Amino acid sequence: MFHADVVTIFPEMIESFLEYGVLGRGIRNGLLSVDACDLREFAYDRHRTVDDRAYGGGPGMVMKYQPLCDAINALKLKEAGSDRKVICMSPQGRQLDQQYVNELVESNGLIILAGRYEGIDERLIESEVDEEISIGDYVLSGGEPAAMVLLDAVARQIPGVLGDMESAKQDSYMDGLLDCPHYTRPETVAGKRVPQVLLNGNHKEIEKWRRKQMLGRTSVRRPDLINAENLSAEDKSLLNDYLEDLAGR
Ligand SMILES: C[S@@+](CC[C@H](N)C(=O)[O-])C[C@H]1O[C@@H](n2cnc3c(N)ncnc32)[C@H](O)[C@@H]1O
Repeated sequence: MFHADVVTIFPEMIESFLEYGVLGRGIRNGLLSVDACDLREFAYDRHRTVDDRAYGGGPGMVMKYQPLCDAINALKLKEAGSDRKVICMSPQGRQLDQQYVNELVESNGLIILAGRYEGIDERLIESEVDEEISIGDYVLSGGEPAAMVLLDAVARQIPGVLGDMESAKQDSYMDGLLDCPHYTRPETVAGKRVPQVLLNGNHKEIEKWRRKQMLGRTSVRRPDLINAENLSAEDKSLLNDYLEDLAGR
């Protein structure tokens, strides 16, 4: 079973997140497990200090080598032989995307470090961390929200976690395209009607419409994801229809 430990100074933050939604259900159903590891348990002074001033001066504190190293070693011992990757959440890491998530799901589990303050002593990253992962080009105050993003995205890809695995396959990015728009009752709201094709029960037509929306949306919103040259003749024609509809609106 996929197991992750999150090393953090705010274990309660991670623990409360683990109770909810798809991730929480997956954990309760025994399809994956996640533990929050309190970094302060590995700080042995009276104040349980996990940070110190930066060499060279400047504002902000830096997370110390020793507590993080001891935490990682203890977690590795707990799951001896599992060969789990040590991940550090960092705005300087490889940016998380669906392909990266799918790679991580195939791994033997993760030990995730959530940084705080100015970050982590570089020597710990050099000697203990296998990969640094960023959730985007912006800076958060701590790695916990980033770890939660990673865990949620990973959990969705573990077989059985989503009630209907087909719905994950249709999600944006799963096959390189954005998802189509979705509608629910009532049929008319704020003067806007649900597209007629979704009401007629013709599943072939509905599938075609959805594919057309996926291709069109991706081409308009994320042209970097789509190369019209590589599309099948059928997809090309659906995309052309979409773009013609758009121009004629
Ligand atoms: C205030 S940030 C430190 C930023 C660091 N001084 C820098 O500019 O690279 C504190 C912690 O938040 C987490 N963090 C911040 N932004 C992140 C992002 N975009 N992706 C993943 N983790 C992030 C990291 O764990 C980081 O150690």
